[in-house]
Amino acid sequence: MKNLDDFDFNEKRVLLRLDLNSPVIDGVVQDNERFAAHSETVKELLKKNASVIIIAHQGRPGDKDFVSLEQHAELLSKHVKKKVKFVSDLFGDCALSEIAKLKPGRALLLENLRFYSEELVEKNFENTVMVSRLSKACDVFVDDAFSVAHRVQTSIVGFPKVMPSFAGRVMQREYAAISKAISNIERPYVMVLGGSKPDDVVKLLKHALSAGTADKILCSGVIGELLLLAKGEDLGYKSKWLEQQGYTKNLPELKTLVEKYSDKLVLPTDFALKDRDGIRLEVLLKQLPSVANTESSMPGDIGSKTAYLFDSAIQQAKTVYYKGPQGIFEEPAFELGTRSVLKSIASCKGFVLMGGGHSLTALDKFNVSKKKVSHISIAGGALIAMLCGESLPGVEVLQ
Ligand code: 3PG
Repeated sequence: MKNLDDFDFNEKRVLLRLDLNSPVIDGVVQDNERFAAHSETVKELLKKNASVIIIAHQGRPGDKDFVSLEQHAELLSKHVKKKVKFVSDLFGDCALSEIAKLKPGRALLLENLRFYSEELVEKNFENTVMVSRLSKACDVFVDDAFSVAHRVQTSIVGFPKVMPSFAGRVMQREYAAISKAISNIERPYVMVLGGSKPDDVVKLLKHALSAGTADKILCSGVIGELLLLAKGEDLGYKSKWLEQQGYTKNLPELKTLVEKYSDKLVLPTDFALKDRDGIRLEVLLKQLPSVANTESSMPGDIGSKTAYLFDSAIQQAKTVYYKGPQGIFEEPAFELGTRSVLKSIASCKGFVLMGGGHSLTALDKFNVSKKKVSHISIAGGALIAMLCGESLPGVEVLQ
């Protein structure tokens, strides 16, 4: 992909695609790492004396977080340390007149792309009114939205077909870093999978095992528990809870994986739960049916023995992918697993790739410096897709 070093942006009108899709709580858009990361690309283009016209999306039609980008402009201005003007139009006369007036060294943010049905058409992207009008109003396209590169949407695949197009710094960094975890991998490659949402993790696990990418996969959180169930273990009340949540639908598939790849999977051997006073109590896997047989005594973390097993594997790794956390680390009784695995990762000498908002929150909580992690991805679905060997339309079209 050509990048910001490959073009003279001086006095050019740059159409810049960012991913500012953020959590929205009670109508308030939450500041997050995406604003910080993309602001670097915006600042660099402004410094190169370009006029920067930003396009981005928020939420999906019909969802509660499907809101205007007005608040995003304020948050982005804070990170860029310069006013990013919000324009409540995307490719109408109002937007075009604002673009025409925009001076070099200034930026504006247009309205939510997904408010316009053309963003979500299924073909002929380059023939949409959106692409036709914005490509004429701007000189070049810069795509910094790696985290939307798995989507075939107009703003991602339409503009590069009709304009000179470049990868922004976030796109460039994300692609280069994640590539290290999919090809020419330095071995041993250890994956640390946890968290409470198993769907993406199951997909990744299947791929990593069948394609032979990872040498060891350390499983905790819901995926660790599901694999234990697949092995025939009894987790006390937790077994019932996993079924109630609908997570056991993948069990037949996981059973096959556990049987075929037992040498690669490292599963929890002990757990932590809370006693009646809310104090952490560690028990062996075999004890769960007798001591963790009510909802309030369900395990919420791995135990120290498991953390030790994980540490040994992480210390030998030359490549690590971490998608955590190991337990409900927001609760003091369940901090230990995530804290100790993150500390192991911080002292590991290999290349470490990390993804997911929870992992970042945990790094901050346990004072683990982000500098100890080689790359922290701000992508969700696109990261998983790339790790699963899928091609990314947004990257392909730039290439
Ligand atoms: C994300 O938040 O992962 C990206 O913005 C993609 O969002 P989408 O899943 O709604 O396409």
